[in-house]
This record gives sequence, C-alpha cells and structure tokens, in this order.
Amino acid sequence: MTKKNNVISIPELVKNVTLLRLTGEVESLKRQQKEICEMAARSILLALDCKDHYTYGHSTRVAYYSVTLGKELGLSEEELYDLELSALFHDIGKIGVPDSVLLKPTRLTEEEFLLMKSHPTKSYEILKDFEPFQDIALYAKSHHERYDGRGYPDGLKGEDIPLYSRIILIADTFDAMTSTRPYRKGLPYEVAFNELEEFSGSQFDPELVVHFIKAMQKEEAKDEKTFKLTIIDGDFEKQAA
Ligand SMILES: [Fe+2]
Repeated sequence: MTKKNNVISIPELVKNVTLLRLTGEVESLKRQQKEICEMAARSILLALDCKDHYTYGHSTRVAYYSVTLGKELGLSEEELYDLELSALFHDIGKIGVPDSVLLKPTRLTEEEFLLMKSHPTKSYEILKDFEPFQDIALYAKSHHERYDGRGYPDGLKGEDIPLYSRIILIADTFDAMTSTRPYRKGLPYEVAFNELEEFSGSQFDPELVVHFIKAMQKEEAKDEKTFKLTIIDGDFEKQAA
C-alpha cells in the first residue's frame, strides 16, 4: 500500500515535466528580454557618444560612482543593475540640447540655461515609452532634484526623490568636480569630498554623502586607473578623456 502511494502517476509525471519545461522557457525568455534591453541600451548610448563624447564618458563614470555607492548601501545585484542603467542614461536627454548650448565653453545665457535644464525631462521622454525602461526614465528625470526641494524639474524634496536619483546626483556632481576639462583641472578627491559635505542636507541626501565618501575612499585606496561596467564591455578610464 505505502509503496504504491509513493509511485508517481503518469498524468502527474506529465504535469511535472510540462511545468519544468515551462519554467525553463520563462527563464530563457527573461534572458532574451534582458539581452534585447542591453542591445537597445548600447545603441542609445552610442547615439550619445556620437553627439558628445565627453557626456558619454561622464555617464560611464557616473554609473561607476553610483554603483560604488550602491554596493556600500548593500543593494542587491538586480538593484545595482537598474542603478547602473539609470546612471548610464541620466543625461541621455542632452541628445536633444543644441550643440551651440551643450558644447559652449563660456557662460550660458539665461535662455541657453533653460534649454540645458530641459535635459532631465528629455531623458524621461526618450525612455518612458519603452516598457522595460519606464522606471529608469523616472530615475533619470529626477537626477537634478535637490534634497531641500529647490531642484528641478518637479521640485521634489527629501525621500520623495527616488533613491537612485539621489545617488546619481552625488555621483554626477562628484564627476563634474573631479574631471579635468580643457578649461580647468579636476579637483582632488579630498577637495570634492569637502564640497559634497558642504552641500550635504541642502543639495544632497546627508546619509548618502557619508556612505559615498566612505565608499570612494576605499576605491581610491585600490589605486586602479580603470573600471568595468556590467552593461557595456571593456575597461573605462577613470580620468575624463
Ligand atoms: Fe544632468
């Protein structure tokens, strides 16, 4: 009697095999969707590289700094992946800013500044209708929101600003300060850390600033010239080119 009960029936066996096959197919479809998203991401980023090589390099460094902070915060692999993608895309809206404004080496007029300030909304517009990038679109849109609510485009405040956007703002500002440009030399890390601390609680999430500085000091101690990303292959230079 007991022995008979342990034997799996033919219909049950067929059901289990079918379930296993379906699970395998779902996993394979998920992998395929991820690959297609990555191909789409790389194509869009290539368009940014064609438009402005500096902004492309800046976006890769912002992704690296964001993920470094994300790791310090203990984010999961999946969360780090979305954070990297959001950071890579944060300035994608600059594709829609005229070269005369985007590449202008001198001070922008008020009108030009307004055009420049439209780039987070443009990032959102570019990404929002591709379903797998809908959340990423929102994180990109909010990367110039300030912790005190005086940022743009929506004047979001504190933790109403998505976490990834608060992370990207710190990474973005840090790269802008430490990158050497034709018209000025990049600041040393320590000076940039002081700047972040000065605007901690007004521009930046104060808790994230503490974690960022800690994470970047550990990175600095490794003394590596390059970094890697998950979504784009290759070694990236830490210093702007
Ligand atoms: Fe930006």
